[in-house]
Amino acid sequence: MFTNIIFSVLKGFSSRMTSKLEAVHFIPWRALIVTGCFVTYFIILGFTMLVPVLTPQHYFVAHKPIFGSSRQTIKNITKTDYWDKCELPVYDFYDEEILSYVEPNENPIPYCNPDYKPITTLINGSWGLKYQRMKLECRSRCHWHKSERVNRIGNWSYKPGPVNCEVLEAVCAKNGTDVYGYLHTQVIPTPPKEPKLENKQLKQYDVTVILLDSLAYSQARRSLPRTITYMSNHMDAVIFPYINKVGDNSRPNGAALWFGKLLEKLDRSLFDEGNVAPDWTQEYMCNVFKDNETSLFHEFQKYGYKTLLAEDWAEGTLNWPNCRGFKKPPIDHYMRPFQNAMERKYHGVEVTKNHLNGDMCREYHHTLLDYLGQFLDAYPDQKKFSWV
Ligand SMILES: *[C@@H]1O[C@H](CO)[C@@H](O)[C@H](O)[C@H]1NC(C)=O
Ligand SMILES: *[C@@H]1O[C@H](CO)[C@@H](O)[C@H](O)[C@H]1NC(C)=O
Ligand SMILES: *[C@@H]1O[C@H](CO)[C@@H](O)[C@H](O)[C@H]1NC(C)=O
Ligand SMILES: *[C@@H]1O[C@H](CO)[C@@H](O)[C@H](O)[C@H]1NC(C)=O
Ligand SMILES: *[C@@H]1O[C@H](CO)[C@@H](O)[C@H](O)[C@H]1NC(C)=O
Repeated sequence: MFTNIIFSVLKGFSSRMTSKLEAVHFIPWRALIVTGCFVTYFIILGFTMLVPVLTPQHYFVAHKPIFGSSRQTIKNITKTDYWDKCELPVYDFYDEEILSYVEPNENPIPYCNPDYKPITTLINGSWGLKYQRMKLECRSRCHWHKSERVNRIGNWSYKPGPVNCEVLEAVCAKNGTDVYGYLHTQVIPTPPKEPKLENKQLKQYDVTVILLDSLAYSQARRSLPRTITYMSNHMDAVIFPYINKVGDNSRPNGAALWFGKLLEKLDRSLFDEGNVAPDWTQEYMCNVFKDNETSLFHEFQKYGYKTLLAEDWAEGTLNWPNCRGFKKPPIDHYMRPFQNAMERKYHGVEVTKNHLNGDMCREYHHTLLDYLGQFLDAYPDQKKFSWV
């Protein structure tokens, strides 16, 4: 019943991206993504479709009307025809108009040093030093979740040993000056929970969503050709090239994906039809905690799934701009303390906050994928739902 892999790319989150780029300007590759400005989701679902990958043009056969039959359309031309037929454009991903913006050789971390590896470790729940005879004084401390914007921060420990947090800040100093900072993560498994719904008869797959915010379908075709080929070729991915967004930026699209709620009115004036009103007002979306709303996370938890949410920004989908988000996140493993440590005042120390600045070849998405990997490893025998 559940699809095993969803790979989803959201496009058009310009307002979020602008403020995000200001806040996190060490992720230059996102700038490239922003330039390809179209409005498309693109979701690849596992299963169902066997596609000849070597001839990608054959994925995109003529599309039938989504509903209504074409025969009716021919017989009777009325204004409801808008709803009966849907002429989809055939995109040329390398159209001349776009070519001058395409920079396939862009390297977001041109100066990074692949030999510059972390010198602190977090293995099997214990932190330590990679090289014992370093002339550095190293220390570490925990970052726990306190609220969406504030971490509970542990005391510095100078002695390697076990830690009971998922986000660990490690800093080393040379002659009193901090010269190294790193944020380690781990997933500490929690005991299995009894499903609230009968699931014995169901075939339940792990579900992993990797969402690229924001990326047009056409830009994905240009910049992720190997990923798309791999997923189509080896994982029977299904491509939905024409799925559109439902709002201007991440928030309304996130609300639709997680809660099934419409935040922006659906303007149907083009079709001489009335507007569809939003489900949630701005006021409700922003100022009321979302813990008790039915969400994808709840739904999976009801079936006994372990859940993970990792976003690459301390102001997540539900928090920007100045919104409340979750009080007590209804998610088993929530990465927010990491992003708070990276971005917020009085959280990580300066050298930690700079550890993704490009010297180390570690980019923001690596940190999320690390955490995802740790989650998958932490529950080899349990069902898992993760959203990255
Ligand atoms: C088209 O539909 C209208 C109203 O539904 C009907 O009155 C009319 O006879 C139809 N015309 C044809 C050619 O079927
Ligand atoms: C971590 O713990 C496991 C099981 O206790 C052990 O097999 C493994 O060798 C340990 N790894 C390291 C790097 O100590
Ligand atoms: C940190 O140290 C202070 C003072 O020594 C102590 O009161 C506090 O409980 C410690 N906090 C933690 C999380 O261990
Ligand atoms: C270490 O710092 C002290 C004072 O800040 C300074 O006098 C000394 O020269 C430094 N030592 C080295 C090896 O840099
Ligand atoms: C969610 O519901 C529980 C139980 O009704 C309540 O105790 C809690 O305060 C609610 N949380 C929020 C954030 O509204």
